[in-house]
Amino acid sequence: MTLPETMRALEARDFSIDALAISSRPVPEPRRGEILVRVGAASLNYRDLAILAQKYFPSLPLPYVPASDACGKVVAVGEDVTRFRVGDRAIPVYTQGWHDGMPTPEQRTRRTLGAPLSGVLQEYVCVPAEDAVRVPAHLSDREAATLPIAALTAWSTLQEGGVKSGDAVLVQGTGGVALFALQFAKLAGATAIVLSSSDEKLERAKALGADVGINYRTTPDWEGPVRDATGGRGVDIVVETAGSTLTKSVASLAFGGFVGVVGFVGGYEATLPLRALIGPMIRVQGIAVGSRARFEAMNRAIERHGLRPVIDSVRPLERAAEAFGMMARGAQFGKLVVDVAG
Ligand SMILES: NC(=O)c1ccc[n+]([C@@H]2O[C@H](COP(=O)([O-])OP(=O)(O)OC[C@H]3O[C@@H](n4cnc5c(N)ncnc54)[C@H](OP(=O)(O)O)[C@@H]3O)[C@@H](O)[C@H]2O)c1
Repeated sequence: MTLPETMRALEARDFSIDALAISSRPVPEPRRGEILVRVGAASLNYRDLAILAQKYFPSLPLPYVPASDACGKVVAVGEDVTRFRVGDRAIPVYTQGWHDGMPTPEQRTRRTLGAPLSGVLQEYVCVPAEDAVRVPAHLSDREAATLPIAALTAWSTLQEGGVKSGDAVLVQGTGGVALFALQFAKLAGATAIVLSSSDEKLERAKALGADVGINYRTTPDWEGPVRDATGGRGVDIVVETAGSTLTKSVASLAFGGFVGVVGFVGGYEATLPLRALIGPMIRVQGIAVGSRARFEAMNRAIERHGLRPVIDSVRPLERAAEAFGMMARGAQFGKLVVDVAG
């Protein structure tokens, strides 16, 4: 196959949604051990918005190509590649080089796609073959593009929390991580309690299997109602995407409960009364997406159960800025996808 010399890429020329523009860039060539992926679709994460707002990697050189999550087809391979062949579908792993166990500090801070490594909102991306995974066969590129950060983070949180049948899981909001957490909780046989700012979104979450919905705007002190929903026992796992609500989350937990601290959509700080942790032997753990091995294990579960990601909407590359705007307003339900192949 003859590859074009140039490709379309979405560049951020400044730290602002208004500064996103299509440009022409050279198509990269795979070096030894690398694969070249023709991107079918990409998806956005809150992180991409935070970077564009200069809240993350404030000194990232401009212009840069945003976003880390994509799925596409391998169109060329470098020397010594055995993991993929031309024609296979592949998903690049967000934390490049993290294959199993714990990541190194270097991988966590310097080897993540979408900053500081170049992003995926472009027609072709080159990654080491060792840093991509196969695609669950029943998923389209658009669906599979939602997996690398949001799904894997939700999966890791429930794994670290030791989810099991009969547990109760509290999920905050109806964004990307939250809805995957809801879906994985249900797969595991757990009860899922969802918080949202919108009654309409709570109804949609119930249609996906949520057992209880609580509106955190109209019920800002939701820890009591969460406990009531579990017969007073408390939940076993909280997927903390809001961050600033950590104190309420701890107050929602059963003895021996687990909070996976994932995000900060509500703010970057929380105060924890230490006695609320000690007596009930609460575990609080930071979550940083997941390794390639965990990604592959998650994909096996997704395939086994025929799970389908929740996509809010799909836009072409030229209109990706609208998706960033929608995320800034918190208007989405599930994942915002960009159709890169057109
Ligand atoms: N540590 C990691 O590995 C990791 C990985 C992925 C994401 N994250 C972080 O996790 C957070 C969520 O990411 P995402 O990609 O899922 O974001 P997203 O798709 O933009 O979803 C954000 C959702 O959070 C909900 N929300 C906002 N304020 C809230 C509050 N005070 N209490 C409860 N829910 C609230 C809203 O849901 P409603 O509209 O229903 O109210 C909103 O739609 C972000 O901070 C992100 O940076 C961390």
